[in-house]
Amino acid sequence: MSKARLVLEKDYRLAAVDHRIFGSFVEHLGRSVYNGIFEPNHIAADENGFRRDVLELVRALKISLIRYPGGNFVSGYRWEDGVGKIEDRPSRLDLAWRTLETNRIGVNEFSEWCKQAGAELMMAINLGTRGIEDALNLLEYCNHPSDTYYSDLRISHGVKEPHNIKFWCLGNEMDGPWQTGHKTAREYGRLAAETGRAMKAMCPDIELTACGSSNADMPTFADWEAEVLNESYDIVDYISLHQYFSNAEGDTGNFLACTLGTDQFIKSVIAVCDFIKAKKRGKKDIYLSFDEWNVWYHSSGRAEEAMRTNPWKISPSLLEDIYTFEDALVTGCMLITLLKHTDRLKMACLAQLVNVIAPIITQPGGGVLCQTIYYPFLHVSAYGRGVSLLPLITSDKYDSKDFTDVPYLEAAGVVSDETGQLTIFAVNRDVHEPLHLECALRGFENYKLIEHIALESECLRATNTFENPNRVIPIKKPIPAHAAEKSFVIELSPASWNVLRFAEAE
Ligand code: AHR
Repeated sequence: MSKARLVLEKDYRLAAVDHRIFGSFVEHLGRSVYNGIFEPNHIAADENGFRRDVLELVRALKISLIRYPGGNFVSGYRWEDGVGKIEDRPSRLDLAWRTLETNRIGVNEFSEWCKQAGAELMMAINLGTRGIEDALNLLEYCNHPSDTYYSDLRISHGVKEPHNIKFWCLGNEMDGPWQTGHKTAREYGRLAAETGRAMKAMCPDIELTACGSSNADMPTFADWEAEVLNESYDIVDYISLHQYFSNAEGDTGNFLACTLGTDQFIKSVIAVCDFIKAKKRGKKDIYLSFDEWNVWYHSSGRAEEAMRTNPWKISPSLLEDIYTFEDALVTGCMLITLLKHTDRLKMACLAQLVNVIAPIITQPGGGVLCQTIYYPFLHVSAYGRGVSLLPLITSDKYDSKDFTDVPYLEAAGVVSDETGQLTIFAVNRDVHEPLHLECALRGFENYKLIEHIALESECLRATNTFENPNRVIPIKKPIPAHAAEKSFVIELSPASWNVLRFAEAE
């Protein structure tokens, strides 16, 4: 049996967990919007055509923030196409995914959906084919109260109150050669700075995210961040990070270790931000927005094939990964990694939300299903709000193809501001053996383990399907008798996700 020790000290507080790390992402892509959140002929549709059954599962996740409308899609998007009378809205070719965009849903409808989902809308602007003027028009349309051309246009569209969108992404993955309007770091940095400057002149309270690299393996990674921030440091508030995980090689040990790479990625981006701050003799920190992350590989190849052989369809099935149990473990490791960086990481978006690389999948005219990855997000969003503690972990380790000294234990602890309860999130990466975990909880001497929730499976490749939706679902574990002691041991099952909830004894 492997062994690990976790020390949490009540006063050793890393930072408050920003609720915006529980964000997600809805792109006009595949069946994310149309035949996803929106299906007007579905029996569960509300008066706006939104599926109530989908909304219910989204609400349960307590999503704080939703990035919209892309992704690669945004780099060719004309936002005006999606407002005004529905019958007048044009259909357009979406070059990013080679599909047909009907524009039936636009910013007003999506904003309404966000309200119902209980989430804040984070809007991305098109800096691929467009620039400053269109960004300003959209901002005026969304945020200016009245008596200007675009604010009055919004009012004429039946939306009296401004949307007051606070968070704006200055484009998407502009370093990627696949992006429509792809740019060099200097070209993009200048455009982001000037667009952002003008946007803040109109609405000083908005917060702006500049595009970082599309992933840490991009050949321009780090230079890109440095150059973009060199141009835009004074204007932007956040830099974005994107990362998708793959187990195409079927190497579970290496797959479960992949968030060690994320940890390094985050540290490197912080280092670049601080370098630019030092160089500029700056006063402010640039914060991190991990605004796309997930496992994504099951559907790889199929989207490219569909886009090549069968283009210009309306909401075709694209990027519909069916997630396994081991994907849920990686999701858990990633959420823990985010919690460990809450001092600098203020926003994050699980990409995406419905049907497209998503925790929730729907059948057109049929049911809705929680994929395996739904559950770790549900747990951390429910119990991971408060103050993130600095965990001290000593653990048995293993080596994998890309990583050495991978601790079997991945863990973080959060103390709730509201209840004072402590929650430990823990993954046992050992797929063969249970993990003997000793927890030393300093400052929590009178706390008691009140609940142990776990995600376990007899099969790493187990999935939830419409036929068998409950194959991978959380279970409640028995509470060990010695749980009331100040330092206690607990066994985590091989390859498991665990939520250990402690409350002060009465
Ligand atoms: O989330 C799917 C795609 O992944 C997004 O459109 C893009 O930003 C990223 O490459």
